[in-house]
Amino acid sequence: MKFFIDTANLDQIREANDLGVLDGVTTNPSLMAKEGIKGVENQRAHYLKICEIVDGDVSAEVISTDYEGMIKEGEELAALNPHIVVKVPCIEAGIKAIKYFTDKGIRTNCTLVFSRGQALLAAKAGATYVSPFVGRLDDISSDGIELVAKIVEMYTYYGYETEVLAASIRSTQHIIQCIEAGADVATCPLAAIKGLLKHPLTDSGLATFLADYKKVNG
Ligand code: E4P
Repeated sequence: MKFFIDTANLDQIREANDLGVLDGVTTNPSLMAKEGIKGVENQRAHYLKICEIVDGDVSAEVISTDYEGMIKEGEELAALNPHIVVKVPCIEAGIKAIKYFTDKGIRTNCTLVFSRGQALLAAKAGATYVSPFVGRLDDISSDGIELVAKIVEMYTYYGYETEVLAASIRSTQHIIQCIEAGADVATCPLAAIKGLLKHPLTDSGLATFLADYKKVNG
């Protein structure tokens, strides 16, 4: 399973990249706003900084909600760097835009996906990635991981090549559940990725090894 980090924070992206296991980055307008990135030029410069840090896919989301606007914005974003994947919301104009981008060889991430029907349309339009939002479904007492598993099952059955990118991941446990569901990618906050490292038996085992070493070696 591939790991993307879900942030626009450059320090966190660097820290995750330095672990050596990072495959990419996802951003969204809220994450960019959280970093105080204002204006088109600054946003594009920020995407380029991310692309310099990570040798992997970087999702940059369009703001337009009409077809023509999405095409213009998406083409400009894709031209910034070969690592850019154009992130497009799963609305009518978005599906049409994904089909256009697919035909042009521009890679896409269909975002804000909350149902199998939406995921089917994204795959038929040729999206590179589909992003079911796990945490936001859990927030409304639905089952986000079950949706990931159902989309994986559907894509496998019909042979769609679109990769299932589990998004809105909130915890380390979510990542483990994504593995069980067969997600191709999980995009996660840094804390959830680092949480995978934690195990009390690792800590106590290491303490014992070091204490035993000291007993003999001083
Ligand atoms: C990433 O592609 C999504 O935009 C992001 O995971 C959404 O996460 P949230 O539901 O925690 O805001």
